[in-house]
Amino acid sequence: MRDPLAAFVGCNRDEIALLRNATEANSYIANGIDLKPGDEVLMTDQEHPGGEHPWNLRAKRYGIVVKKVTLPKPVENPAQALNLFSDAITPRTRVMFFSHISTFSGVVLPAKELCALARRKGIISAVDGAHVPGMMRLNLHELGCDLYSSSPHKWLQAPKGSGFLYVRDEMIDRVWNTIATEGWDDVKLRAERFQRIGSSNVPALWGLRASIQLANDIGMDRIEHRQLATTRPWRRSHVVEVPLHRQRDHRAVPTDHPRRQQRRLAGLGRADQRNRTPRPLPARRPTRRRMPLTVLGRQQRTPRRHRPQRPEG
Ligand SMILES: Cc1ncc(COP(=O)(O)O)c(C=O)c1O
Repeated sequence: MRDPLAAFVGCNRDEIALLRNATEANSYIANGIDLKPGDEVLMTDQEHPGGEHPWNLRAKRYGIVVKKVTLPKPVENPAQALNLFSDAITPRTRVMFFSHISTFSGVVLPAKELCALARRKGIISAVDGAHVPGMMRLNLHELGCDLYSSSPHKWLQAPKGSGFLYVRDEMIDRVWNTIATEGWDDVKLRAERFQRIGSSNVPALWGLRASIQLANDIGMDRIEHRQLATTRPWRRSHVVEVPLHRQRDHRAVPTDHPRRQQRRLAGLGRADQRNRTPRPLPARRPTRRRMPLTVLGRQQRTPRRHRPQRPEG
């Protein structure tokens, strides 16, 4: 089961543990790394509770310190995000933890550069990629992170319960297991020892394999291209690739309005075209649904080159 996933996310099979979801994988990360009281974990102010709270638990129980950088909305460029982290690093920073794609604003952080920064400073990099598989191409070796968590049940449309934890090979022996059964400390198992959790939900894993196959059949390049094409009007710079929703908290947008009106309701007036921060709109009533812009995008006709090919024969 791990081979197709490893190929899909650009790492080795032995670096992958199949877990239930990103929350579980984040908990393995926060529980598994040796840290002393007073050691600091640096994250953003836009982490999902399933990413942040495993660290909060450890802070409350064992005295580590959680520090946050405040991401501007929108993040203007990769250097801005990088500088924020760089400035917040102290001699006690041991871990940098951040979402590759923020659940709150949709911003795609410059993960590769942030991981390189961490590596230069001798800091462990742990990335929450819950929203990445199925949304963007992912190559974990190129990304250069130490740890990565994800939930392919989101954009890859795998069944729930098919999450994963990636641990870079050189890092595997530095991570303690959270659940222990036979093999928990067998280093020869590599990352497989993290997926020894008792009985697993095997049908969910079959579903994961099928969803990878589907994405590969369509082509991740085409899927990513399509995501970017449908959100192009909403993007303001190359770091603010907003595949999920606008660079602001979830905004209610009705689906049945003409496109121009949708843009206005999404807070995307002319100011955006002039590359300025859009004016916040007054709160809308509950007749409107919260939705990612990718859903809005689906109302447009898909250009032929982005449509899935019919299988031959
Ligand atoms: C960035 C991020 N991390 C973690 C999670 C938690 O995912 P799960 O419920 O699959 O564990 C989410 C859920 O939306 C998320 O957006």
